[in-house]
Amino acid sequence: MYVYNTWYVAAWSSEVTDKPTARTICELPLVLFRTQDGEAHALVDRCAHRGFPLSEGRVVNDSVECAYHGFTYGRDGRCTRVPGQTALPDRARVGTYPVYEKDGWIWVYTGDPERADISDIPDTHWHNDPEWAPVFHSLGINCRAELVHDNLLDLTHESWIHQTTVGDDYIYEYGVTVEVEGNTVSVDRFMPSVEAPPLYKDTMGISGPYDRFHCTEFHVPNHHTLHSGITAEGQPREDGYLIKVTNAITPIDADHCWYYYCFARNFAVDDEQATKDLEVGLATVLKEDAWALENQERGLKTRPADEFDVLIAQDGGVAKARRIMNALIRAEQREADAKREASEKNAVAASGGTASTANTDPVDSAAQPAGQEV
Ligand code: FES
Ligand SMILES: [Fe+2]
Repeated sequence: MYVYNTWYVAAWSSEVTDKPTARTICELPLVLFRTQDGEAHALVDRCAHRGFPLSEGRVVNDSVECAYHGFTYGRDGRCTRVPGQTALPDRARVGTYPVYEKDGWIWVYTGDPERADISDIPDTHWHNDPEWAPVFHSLGINCRAELVHDNLLDLTHESWIHQTTVGDDYIYEYGVTVEVEGNTVSVDRFMPSVEAPPLYKDTMGISGPYDRFHCTEFHVPNHHTLHSGITAEGQPREDGYLIKVTNAITPIDADHCWYYYCFARNFAVDDEQATKDLEVGLATVLKEDAWALENQERGLKTRPADEFDVLIAQDGGVAKARRIMNALIRAEQREADAKREASEKNAVAASGGTASTANTDPVDSAAQPAGQEV
């Protein structure tokens, strides 16, 4: 269902403070918080004592205190305090997730921590590069994450749902070139001698025909970088008015996802009014996308299991990306199955050859002061 061995954007840097913040990623509950040294941390959002969400508690002395009975956990997930007793039960600990903060985004690795490599986090330097002017947005969308990926890989929808903003009638008339390198799928569309899109035509201060281009790079499974812009007819792309859009898609569960977005431009960089106008215009664009995707999700919910998408030439990138995503999910599932089988065999061997389904004693005797009844 999900790819876990990857980094997902969990929050904006500004959202992670000395107050616990709850997030769900791939159905995993997380609590995020920041310690006094400025570092961000992520723990499993479930108290080891009796399962209460830690995000309902508070941060005390760089630890998260459960709001129910006061168990307290440090950044390493170990319990540092159990009110009323000095002994700390061995099992009183919660899981931790690797966290990396970069260019205003908090990335969390949801898979095997041994494989968490920060060099796998995509380039997002446009967020705070003085040569670029960024506009940021994020929103939760009531749809599966896959629909956002498809939406970004097939930008012909701009001709339909973004008519007044970044769309134009002509987009779907141009074909795409699709390339795959490793787990990255690139979909490039070149539109020679056309008008610039309505939303940023004025910001660019231009009129008349230009060459327009889009190239979506999907780093499967979680991030798209859109290299887009316009340039004088016949001139190299890098000489034009350039836009870099970073899109981080974080699954919440089967029906919901987070969408983190930054639109950075290399023109009118100091024009504050242009930035304000784009903030409003791009918020409209994202609402238009959310409207389409939530409706699509509604349509898909009624679709019989034996009915499938009818993919066309414009969906070349969609098809290739789905193949990579499915392969990543299947590989993780195979690994998880093999691990489960091995641990079941070990358990049988340890019990002298008889599998046991009995629960282990939930009371940690070392935790109880002598003579105390539970
Ligand atoms: S459930 Fe957290 S301290 Fe009891
Ligand atoms: Fe869109």
